[in-house]
Order: sequence, then C-alpha cells, then structure tokens
Amino acid sequence: MKKISWNELEFKYMKTDKRFVSRWKNGQWDQGRLKSDNHITLSEASTALHYGQQCFEGLKAYRTRHNRIQLFRPEENAKRMQESCRRLLMPELSVEKFIRACELVVRANEYYVPPYGTNSALYLRPFMIGVGNIMGVKPADEYLFCVYCSPVGPYFKGGLKPVEFVTSDFDRAAPMGTGGVKVGGNYASSLYPNHLAKKQGYADCIYLDPKTHTKIEEVGAANFFGITHDETFVTPESYSILPSITKQSLLYLAEHYMHLKTQQRDVCVDKLNEFKEAGACGTAAVITPIGSITHKGKKHVFYSEDKVGPMTMTLFNTLTNIQFGDLEAPKDWIYRFD
Ligand code: PLP
Ligand code: COI
Repeated sequence: MKKISWNELEFKYMKTDKRFVSRWKNGQWDQGRLKSDNHITLSEASTALHYGQQCFEGLKAYRTRHNRIQLFRPEENAKRMQESCRRLLMPELSVEKFIRACELVVRANEYYVPPYGTNSALYLRPFMIGVGNIMGVKPADEYLFCVYCSPVGPYFKGGLKPVEFVTSDFDRAAPMGTGGVKVGGNYASSLYPNHLAKKQGYADCIYLDPKTHTKIEEVGAANFFGITHDETFVTPESYSILPSITKQSLLYLAEHYMHLKTQQRDVCVDKLNEFKEAGACGTAAVITPIGSITHKGKKHVFYSEDKVGPMTMTLFNTLTNIQFGDLEAPKDWIYRFD
C-alpha cells in the first residue's frame, strides 16, 4: 500500500489500483471491466485525438465519520454526460451503467478514499472518447467509456482561502458553441488564458459572455456566485456556461437551508459592487471565496482579500456537511455504498 499524507493532498493525479473500461462497438456497450494498467491503447486515427470527440465528468466519493463511503449526486453527472454525448454525437450511457462503473471503481480503490476529517475526497473522472480508424470529420464508430480515480485536496491552493481572479479577453466557448457541455475543447481553449492569468499572479481567469464581453460567465473550472447586500444568492445564466451540479445544489441550499432569495440572471462586470461576497463553486473547487476580480486593470475587492465572508462560510459548511454525511441531505442527493 502506498503511504499517503492525507492532510497534504493537492489536486494532483495519483495512480490508484483499478480503473473501469467499457467499449462501444456494433451499436452496443460491452459489460466493461476493471483493469490495473492505467494506459489505453488506441488507433492513431481516433476522433478523440483529432477532432476532440470526447467528454468527461468529475464527481467525488466521500468518507463519513462512521467510515461509510458515499457519492454526491452521481445521477446528475450521468445525465450531464448524456447531454455532452448528444452534443458530440457520441453514444449515450445509461445512468445505471454510469453509477455502477463509479461504484466499482470506488470499491476497488477503497483505500484511496481519504479519511473523514481531512477535507479531502476521492475524485472520480469518468470520460468517453471516440476511437477507431476515422479520417474525415465525422463521428467515430467505436467508443471507450472509462472511469479512473485519484484522492484529491483543494483545487485552488490553500483551500478555503480567498483567491484573486482577472477577467480574460479570450473566450472559452462560443455563444452557441459547446460551453454548456463538458467536452475537452472548452478546456483546450482555456489553457492559454489560464496561463496568462497565472503568469500575472492570479489563481485563474474569469470568462465574460462571448457575445458582448460585459457579463460574468464563469471560471475555467468552476461557476461564479455572488451574495448581494440584501442577501440574495446570484449566479449567472447563459447557454455557454457549464451547468454546475455544485451551483445547482447551492441554489437549493441557499433557498431551503439558509432562507435566502436566489436569482439566476445576468451579472454585469461593471456592477460588481452589488455583491458583498463572491465565490467560485464546483466539484474540484468546492467553494472557493473570491477575494477580488481585476477587470481592465481595476481591482474590485469583495468581502476581504484574506478572510472568508460569513455567507460563503455558511454555504461551504452546509454543502460539505451534506457531502461528508454530517447533515441530512435533500432527497436522492446521496448515493450510499452498503
Ligand atoms: N464550470 C466548469 C468549466 C467546470 O469544469 C466545472 C467542473 O466540473 C464546473 C463549472 C463545476 O461543475 P460541477 O459543480 O458540476 O463540478
Ligand atoms: C470538476 O470540478 O470536476 C472539474 O471538472 C474541474 C476540472 C476541469 C479540474
């Protein structure tokens, strides 16, 4: 067994014992199997390699204080992957098969689910790629669906510590493009803007709406939310934003657990002072407080550059207490392993 410093985990790949692989051929998925080798052999003419015909998901397995393991809303990830598949003309996978594959991978790598209390979790990365021998621009006729996992800590360094973002002049997605689905192309186009932001000392960049560049869309790997001075939880709405499951959950928790008003609407980058707090949310990012956003050289500070605001803190505690099993979850949010 690998010795792991659970309290020092970062968001980095660690090879675990088993991963799941299933092949789609002649119009159907095979049973799939677990394997030890973390390499995949595929044709040089695979559509995933040339035309970006691939999609992926990200979800986590959590260990509770009673040493049980649970997934957070895996059905939502399965359904989002189906959306991604429809957009890229890939074969859909049933919700049951998706969840079964995740469960098999977690069970086979149980040792790697971080202990309760370390604020870390086992990150699952289901993905689908078009493979086979295809030359022209068209969908593949064979696909692989795989799930691997890795124990992870916080995505943004320092965990629950405010980060600084800068708006980008680039777009991650087109107005009617693929921003709303989880496909690799969106991330390929975010690499350079992300690199520029990091070079200037920011944690990442914030994308504006690709049509007018006046409204906040999201971060490269997380959605945006803000809390207004009258305590409304606000998150942007746009076709080119990835519909985050964490964001969807926070909308529910803000309304039903914290009794806040909620709104999904435009967020003008010139009106950031309507918010007393802001954050980034996602499976990997969990909830990361945003200390400031710099736009056209002007820095807007939210609650504080180094302290977490009280509303953000309550959202974080409510969400993570549910994920780690310390707070009763809304119906069907938790998938427990018996
Ligand atoms: N936005 C982008 C671009 C992402 O990559 C992610 C991560 O999955 C999110 C938002 C957050 O989505 P979720 O909460 O479903 O993980
Ligand atoms: C996730 O939060 O699951 C993501 O996919 C973000 C990621 C691209 C690191």
